[in-house]
Amino acid sequence: MPFCTWLLILFFLECLILIRARNYSFVCNEIEAYMDNPENNSKCWFDPDVYADPVQRALNHGFLLKKHNVRTEDGWILTLFRLKNLKHSGQKNVIFLQHGLAADATCFMANGNNSLAFILAEEGYDVWMGNYRGTEFSSHQTLTPLNKKYWDFSLTELSIDLAAVIQFVHTKTKRKILYIGHSMGGTGGVIYLSTRPEEAKNYISHTILIQPAIFMSHTVGFFTLENIKTYYGLLQTMDYMNLNLYFSSNPDENLIFNICVRSLADIKFCINLFDKILGTSMYPISPPKLPMALLAIRGVIYKLILHFSQILHSGEFKMFDYGTKGNLQVYNSTKPPFFDITKIPTSVSWIYGETDALVPKRDILENFEKYRKPNWDIYGIPYNHGYFLFDEQVSKRFSNLLLKLIRKHI
Ligand SMILES: *[C@@H]1O[C@H](CO)[C@@H](O)[C@H](O)[C@H]1NC(C)=O
Ligand SMILES: *[C@@H]1O[C@H](CO)[C@@H](O)[C@H](O)[C@H]1NC(C)=O
Ligand SMILES: *[C@@H]1O[C@H](CO)[C@@H](O)[C@H](O)[C@H]1NC(C)=O
Ligand SMILES: *[C@@H]1O[C@H](CO)[C@@H](O)[C@H](O)[C@H]1NC(C)=O
Repeated sequence: MPFCTWLLILFFLECLILIRARNYSFVCNEIEAYMDNPENNSKCWFDPDVYADPVQRALNHGFLLKKHNVRTEDGWILTLFRLKNLKHSGQKNVIFLQHGLAADATCFMANGNNSLAFILAEEGYDVWMGNYRGTEFSSHQTLTPLNKKYWDFSLTELSIDLAAVIQFVHTKTKRKILYIGHSMGGTGGVIYLSTRPEEAKNYISHTILIQPAIFMSHTVGFFTLENIKTYYGLLQTMDYMNLNLYFSSNPDENLIFNICVRSLADIKFCINLFDKILGTSMYPISPPKLPMALLAIRGVIYKLILHFSQILHSGEFKMFDYGTKGNLQVYNSTKPPFFDITKIPTSVSWIYGETDALVPKRDILENFEKYRKPNWDIYGIPYNHGYFLFDEQVSKRFSNLLLKLIRKHI
């Protein structure tokens, strides 16, 4: 029955949106132009990245992308991406990038030549990208997305993914890894580093946390405590119906994408909604980057959102709260255990976004001061919670700083 409900809803949504399916390869330098025959509009041009899979996307920008499958100790098979720069060869320092919630590793390749992954590979680094469980680039040995158990993981389990892929990267490269995590990539990274410090210190040289979703006491915009309380019932219903889903990488089949590009009003509505969730950016997404940015939104996983809402609610960075009875069963204590960020065995660079609504500057600054260690440093970037991923001017606003940090710590 839950599965039927799921199919039914999807079917209606598909009917609603797919009526206007067209060739979305054309990007425009004005949002109005998207509604005005982009294929024949002088303000629009062909962008080969829109329909490209990760391998093709990398090729479009002069890189070879190799995939590696890694098995976790609890039966997930995760696909790792590795970029090969044809111009550089020989020994290279290793950088590992980990994506955030509602995304996958393709978010680091969503900004043409200015994509973070390509900038780092262009500099000669050996760039690896992880994909968490529950993304398009993961599967489970025995479970399928139709099983509810498939989606039954919290932030804690993400560190199992990282333990597996980081060990794999180290085995392949025999080098120490510089870890960069954005948002939930930072959350998983901190959980991995602080719960397995002995292991992690053999593999990781330095950690860069970009807007890590760890402390969110002052979150504003859409995901405030008030709103989460309001939508809690809806979230539970979605979970009951097993409505955990990821959006397709193909624009023709991607729900969010299709809803957001139907009309000028829909485009503006979506941009507004993103500003509400992520924060109003000093540097909004430029019109030609809109399709790639929309396609970077890849999924909704109930239990992760629930875990985040607990962190937001309590202001405490803890394991998943199953309630008193459940906690006793899972943790042998009435309250979930804390993650102790001071156990991170590496040096850490913290990066906050000046206008980040989801992981506010204030929370990062306060906790940096509270837990501060001598080998930590902190920097601000002029963005909301994610638009650096799509900014054509990212070099002068962020990636030059990132390269400086990497050179200093590698
Ligand atoms: C979209 O149009 C471009 C340019 O005309 C073409 O190369 C491409 O194959 C088309 N893509 C799809 C999915 O129709
Ligand atoms: C674009 O213009 C060409 C030539 O003027 C025409 O043949 C073609 O059908 C037009 N395409 C669309 C999608 O309107
Ligand atoms: C991006 O890089 C590719 C491959 O190196 C190159 O052919 C292309 O001209 C570059 N595009 C821009 C806009 O710089
Ligand atoms: C559970 O916690 C209690 C009290 O802290 C302790 O005495 C007991 O040994 C624990 N049981 C297990 C299975 O760890």
